[in-house]
Amino acid sequence: MSTILETVNLVKRFGGLVAVNNVSIKVRRNRLTLLIGPNGAGKTTLVNVCTGVLKPDGGRVLFSPHGDEGKVLDITGWPSHKIYRTGFVRTFQIPQPFLALTVLENVLVALGGRGENPLVAPVRRLWVRDEEERVRKAFEILKRVGLDRYWDYEAYRLGAGQLKMLEVARALATGAKLIALDEPIGGTDPAYASEIFRYIRGLLKVMDVTFLVIEHRIDIALPYADYVYVMDRGRVIAEGSPDVVAKDPRVIQVYIGE
Ligand SMILES: Nc1ncnc2c1ncn2[C@@H]1O[C@H](COP(=O)(O)OP(=O)(O)OP(=O)(O)O)[C@@H](O)[C@H]1O
Ligand SMILES: [Mg+2]
Repeated sequence: MSTILETVNLVKRFGGLVAVNNVSIKVRRNRLTLLIGPNGAGKTTLVNVCTGVLKPDGGRVLFSPHGDEGKVLDITGWPSHKIYRTGFVRTFQIPQPFLALTVLENVLVALGGRGENPLVAPVRRLWVRDEEERVRKAFEILKRVGLDRYWDYEAYRLGAGQLKMLEVARALATGAKLIALDEPIGGTDPAYASEIFRYIRGLLKVMDVTFLVIEHRIDIALPYADYVYVMDRGRVIAEGSPDVVAKDPRVIQVYIGE
């Protein structure tokens, strides 16, 4: 199985606190990897260090966006905008959805295109074909995240979960290969929360994309994961398939101890 992201002995300190303590994980390509653990375990810090939001104090972050034949990028300490351009996106790094724009317009902006070029814009025939193709692509993406029927809604009319899915749609539109989501189902009801995970699973099948998801509500998230890392106090304390991790006494202990 191919690895898209690997951390090697990653360390992040805040003063005397070691928020990420020698963490080595592997994220498999086209899979959903789940990162769980109690409050303050270091989950968000780990993802922030990987995506360049924070600089690590030790260790390495290796990203392989183009499969096993492509080259491995050592992205350790890179600024976040540079990591973003390689195809590793943390959703909040994408500029927030424009709330006054429609759902479709938000995805079109993320897709980019020639119509925005002031030299090309006045010559209609140069961009009209382009524009049709972009709209087709945008609808395809919106369908995959369950937002196609809301295409003409202004983004502000969406619920919290739908906004998260719009962020995923925009990440896909930028060509993201690895998408990190920090608590994507926060603020949504259990029924829609499960639906979000079903959409994510659907994307894995049809698009060349990989998800690294931090989630608190493991009762909902666990069944959808391919592989799980459990963090506690900066360290990975367990890993494996969802059923293995769910039965692990150390995992049960940190969750009961919470
Ligand atoms: N910018 C910061 N400055 C100082 N300490 C921080 C900073 N960010 C996080 N921490 C500390 O690092 C530790 C790990 O925090 P982190 O936010 O990564 O945990 P988490 O697993 O994401 O928790 P939660 O489930 O509550 O989101 C915590 O003790 C937190 O207080
Ligand atoms: Mg967090």
